[in-house]
Amino acid sequence: MTHLGKADWTDPERVRRMADSYKLRYDTAFWQAFEELVGTDPREVVADFGCGPGLLLADLVKRLASTVARGVDESPEMLGYAETALTDVDGIESHSLQQANFDEDGIPLDSESVDLGFCGFMLHEVSSPSAFLAEAFRVVRREGVYVVYDYVSGNRDAFIRIMSSGGMDPSRAAKRYPHMCKHSVDDIEGLLRSSGFQDVQSIVLDGIRVVAAGLKY
Ligand SMILES: C[S@@+](CC[C@H](N)C(=O)[O-])C[C@H]1O[C@@H](n2cnc3c(N)ncnc32)[C@H](O)[C@@H]1O
Repeated sequence: MTHLGKADWTDPERVRRMADSYKLRYDTAFWQAFEELVGTDPREVVADFGCGPGLLLADLVKRLASTVARGVDESPEMLGYAETALTDVDGIESHSLQQANFDEDGIPLDSESVDLGFCGFMLHEVSSPSAFLAEAFRVVRREGVYVVYDYVSGNRDAFIRIMSSGGMDPSRAAKRYPHMCKHSVDDIEGLLRSSGFQDVQSIVLDGIRVVAAGLKY
């Protein structure tokens, strides 16, 4: 059955559109919320799960003085784009891009090997967010942080208006609302807490996106 909250991320045209919309999705409001929740202290190893075109990983490296970037995604087309995005990023000493499907596989990284883990616009796409976040908790180091960024439920009209202004057909946005906005803010905070993360905090943007972060002690 078609997953209305998940596009075909093997389609090169969709991959390009996802990359082209990066700056719109990771805008000033996002970075302000991110810094408020996570700070700007250096984080040596950063990892993005469902890393897509890798542009966020490249920015994390630059902003957090990271030396190692790790991306995981099920789409080889996305990983190909990410390879280019992570080549020659200033300050990076090594990067790895691995293919895995979180609906079937764990995260292919060692336990307690990541200082900052992230997933952007991905949690609503996985079949078991709790199983995925249990894996995220395993790979984050003690004193590390995990960030979820995704659309949230609760404001259908705003979702349709904002997605339409970004170029999505309004009827398509209406159809996608319950699927792309699968979780509420409370759901996402609760999922982070029940995976083991503590001091969970979140900031809602435009009523339709949340940046939520939890610490591992
Ligand atoms: C909406 S895109 C977001 C990409 C990137 N995080 C960004 O914000 O630019 C969702 C990404 O998650 C990946 N993804 C979705 N479900 C996945 C799964 N079960 N396992 C691994 N990757 C998955 C897709 O291949 C796609 O690259």
